[in-house]
Amino acid sequence: MGIQAWVRRDDGGGNDQLMVSADDSVTVPMNTAASAGDEITTLDWEPLRERVLVCTKCALHKGRTQAVFGVGNRKAQWLIIGEAPGADEDRQGEPFVGRAGKLLNNMLLAVGLRREEVYIANIVKCRPPNNRDPQPEEAQSCEPYLQRQIALIQPKLILALGRIAAQNLLKTSEAVGALRGKRLRYGDAGIPLVVTYHPAYLLRSPREKRKAWLDLQLAREIVAAISS
Ligand code: URA
Repeated sequence: MGIQAWVRRDDGGGNDQLMVSADDSVTVPMNTAASAGDEITTLDWEPLRERVLVCTKCALHKGRTQAVFGVGNRKAQWLIIGEAPGADEDRQGEPFVGRAGKLLNNMLLAVGLRREEVYIANIVKCRPPNNRDPQPEEAQSCEPYLQRQIALIQPKLILALGRIAAQNLLKTSEAVGALRGKRLRYGDAGIPLVVTYHPAYLLRSPREKRKAWLDLQLAREIVAAISS
């Protein structure tokens, strides 16, 4: 996971903008309150993206440079979900482009995946002030957009990065340490979900990289089993 490798910006079609550079099954229902009767559930990629870019549903829009929709292969097998855009992402309009993003790219490469092959999104699309955690109501406002992205992608696996992603997706208050390393499931469709540490945490606590490596191997095993 320490590999320094960068891949060229290359849209093979069906990709959003790109950059250089079980089973202990727990099935968690989706937030039907957020999705029921809302036409977001019917939007295709471009109208969905346009809707996100002009969204004012929560106060986070007031401090953003731009909303960060998501990036990658819209037909990806792996959907990677982080927390929220930081300063670099807010500026560039793309998730995980800062230091944590570089580590994420290397984590993906360690299991044979280029950034372009996966889809990367966040629980909230706008940067919280001073990089604070997104509030529950902000995550809830944004949830229909992520739900729609998930429905459009139909990933074989969701990799939840860190506490905010894991807790919001799984509707739990359990710690990452208790959730990681398990075969979990998301939503009514029961999409396989693996929790691992957030790359920003791994930058601060590199000794935990070994556990993240095990989580990624588990995720790879799950996808391989579904694909075979
Ligand atoms: N951290 C996240 O959770 N998401 C990003 O897009 C960048 C940093």
